[in-house]
Amino acid sequence: MRKQIAAANWKMNLTLQQAETLMDELFATPLELSENQEAVFGVPFPYLISIKNKLAGKKNVYVAAQNCYDKKSGAYTGEVSAEMLNSIGTDYVIIGHSERREYFNESHAMLAAKVNICIENGLKPIFCCGEPLAIREAGTESSFVEMQLKESLFHLSAEQLTGFVIAYEPIWAIGTGKTASNEQAQEMHAHIRKVLSDQYGVVVADSISILYGGSVKANNAADIFSQPDVDGGLVGGASLLAADFTAIINSLK
Ligand code: 13P
Repeated sequence: MRKQIAAANWKMNLTLQQAETLMDELFATPLELSENQEAVFGVPFPYLISIKNKLAGKKNVYVAAQNCYDKKSGAYTGEVSAEMLNSIGTDYVIIGHSERREYFNESHAMLAAKVNICIENGLKPIFCCGEPLAIREAGTESSFVEMQLKESLFHLSAEQLTGFVIAYEPIWAIGTGKTASNEQAQEMHAHIRKVLSDQYGVVVADSISILYGGSVKANNAADIFSQPDVDGGLVGGASLLAADFTAIINSLK
């Protein structure tokens, strides 16, 4: 059975003190995660060690970096390598978030290299895809997302893609309060799984967790997660509030 995942993406928010308070509030009552469910905390680089320590001894909870560099090591001032992230116990890395594609010009080829270097260093990528509003309005979102997957993931082997995590985040739904409808989310998630199935077979496609991201809130998570091909969410704003993110975790199937 593929994993159901509630992943927080704090983006560039919270001081360390605020982050620690948030985690203390979140774990004031133990999270109820079943065997195939995970909660993942995508936190800023400087907090990874501290938040990882807060999760020690807790089941099915993990930390994610929000990015890494695509080179092994060397004279790249200000960058953070996959090897460094692994050495501090990072579990996941969010790769190809639309904000990185847009503000930092991350190309398909660069994202393919980042996926590779994560895998080489024992880190699990959470690969983000999703169309901008203009593409949705033109009705070409299916082929757009398919192209994103092909360009950055299809060099991987079936073994490497087994149990992989993808996040579908339509850009028009991120931070806008405009969630994709259940039907829109299910339609795209089913399309992504079909594209993966056509390339890698149904067993691999069925093992991949496809998370939905874009204005997931405490009051709509259960509805979206109930869709058959939606395996949880990647959550921005609502992951900064303990009660809301707890409710989102409790909405996993
Ligand atoms: P919001 O939940 O704030 O819309 O952000 C979604 C997102 O970008 C998660 O990566």
